[in-house]
Amino acid sequence: MKKRKDIITVAIDSPAAAGAGTQAKLISKNYNLFYLDTGKIYRYIGKLKLDNKNIFNYNFVKKKISNIKLRYLKNKSLLSNEVALSASNIAKDKNIRKIVHKFQQKCAYNPPKRFKGSVLDGRDIITVQVKDAMFKFYITASLNVRTKRRFEEYKKLNKKITYNEVFKSLKNRDKSDRNRKYGPLKKTKDSILINTTKLSKKSCFKKIKAIMDKKINN
Ligand code: C5P
Repeated sequence: MKKRKDIITVAIDSPAAAGAGTQAKLISKNYNLFYLDTGKIYRYIGKLKLDNKNIFNYNFVKKKISNIKLRYLKNKSLLSNEVALSASNIAKDKNIRKIVHKFQQKCAYNPPKRFKGSVLDGRDIITVQVKDAMFKFYITASLNVRTKRRFEEYKKLNKKITYNEVFKSLKNRDKSDRNRKYGPLKKTKDSILINTTKLSKKSCFKKIKAIMDKKINN
């Protein structure tokens, strides 16, 4: 795969609803970087499984991913709890992760020319996908705060789900994402920990920006 030289690469991992997506978007806007929310690819595949139970297999997924368009990942149907759980389930599979790998590599190392680089967020970005990233962040927050945030998002989307159901769902996903064999979520020594439990979006970004500016301007 062709790799663009001298680009800014930002890798972010985080448990669900910790605020990584929000920060990644702010980073991409501020530094003109291409943004890929890698969780959306797993959600897309998770939804494919829910909708195509009888014909769902590796070849089917391969074909779908080779024809994937970024706008597919913006579909609101990917935001449900049911899809999130299905995503977390198919994400345990080594072959599924392999299929997703190539697409992510292209986005990370060869983003469209108009961008100065890339920012990817997910679960295995600092550990597997963009190990050599110029910036590596591990963003986290307490389970209670994450539940509150996700519950509010679901409310805005008119989803019928209780606080307790959201709590349990995030807890189960955390457990599965952290303990699976392939591409488990973990903090690496070379990544910077950002705990957003008591931080506003703005103050969190301020922290990240200070770290990035220091290195970029040197
Ligand atoms: O980030 P989001 O909550 O949308 O991700 C949905 C699921 O996709 C996660 O729970 C995780 O199992 C999976 N995922 C993954 N690797 C990534 C991104 C997401 O396994 N890089």
